[in-house]
Amino acid sequence: MQVAIDGPASAGKSTVAKIVAKNLNYIYIDTGAMYRACTLIARDGNVDYSDEKAILNLIDQSTIEFKNEGNEQKVYVNGKDASIAIRTPEITENVSQVSALKGVRQKMVNLQREMAGKNNVIMDGRDIGTTVLPDAQVKIFLIASVASRARRRFLDFKEKGIHQDIADIEHDIEVRDYKDSHRAISPLKKADDAIELDTTNLNIDQVVQEITALIEKNKKN
Ligand code: CDP
Ligand code: CDP
Repeated sequence: MQVAIDGPASAGKSTVAKIVAKNLNYIYIDTGAMYRACTLIARDGNVDYSDEKAILNLIDQSTIEFKNEGNEQKVYVNGKDASIAIRTPEITENVSQVSALKGVRQKMVNLQREMAGKNNVIMDGRDIGTTVLPDAQVKIFLIASVASRARRRFLDFKEKGIHQDIADIEHDIEVRDYKDSHRAISPLKKADDAIELDTTNLNIDQVVQEITALIEKNKKN
């Protein structure tokens, strides 16, 4: 079973994908974390975020791995836990530029398909239903209003003891959504056969239930 969950920033993709994967014992693959890791690799290598050749060289010399530790999935870059480092505002601001590079996308899509292999997977991102797993049995496109997505992220940061202005978060979300939807290669777009789910007024449990029901229905068909 392959489940693809796409949608704009902070629609709740990773939160619900993680829960559904745990409940059903599927493998969860956070493709956004992989593009964030590429951005961190570029930053640490002091190369310009537009220098595709240099970034690809650095990626070739690097490792990006997911490790399950307790209830959490950690992202390791070159053997070091980078789970926090890939979510700083600096990486968030620049990830859309790096993820738009053709060579970077080619490498990551190949890796993602390899990771999906023959396992039951839930993969979340922007182009999973359209490009990475076009034959996925279940495709979901999660959306929510910009205001609710900014509020969710604000509360998420607050819980972690980080204060970020809600207007800045809203601005970042709008800019990133625009860049992700307007890039030339596999832009953020609902696959024709994806089911759109507006989560503006749904809590996490409700979204988990909806997605689980879609998977169960598909298993029966
Ligand atoms: O969690 P958040 O919504 O902030 O974003 P993310 O899923 O961590 O993705 C970070 C960025 O990676 C996105 O804004 C896209 O630029 C890029 N991305 C992509 O291009 N393709 C994917 N399949 C996943 C993420
Ligand atoms: O992965 P993506 O960027 O789409 O979003 P996320 O990181 O899973 O969710 C962003 C925040 O929204 C998290 O703090 C979730 O707990 C919260 N959330 C929510 O409040 N209600 C939902 N229906 C889904 C997510």
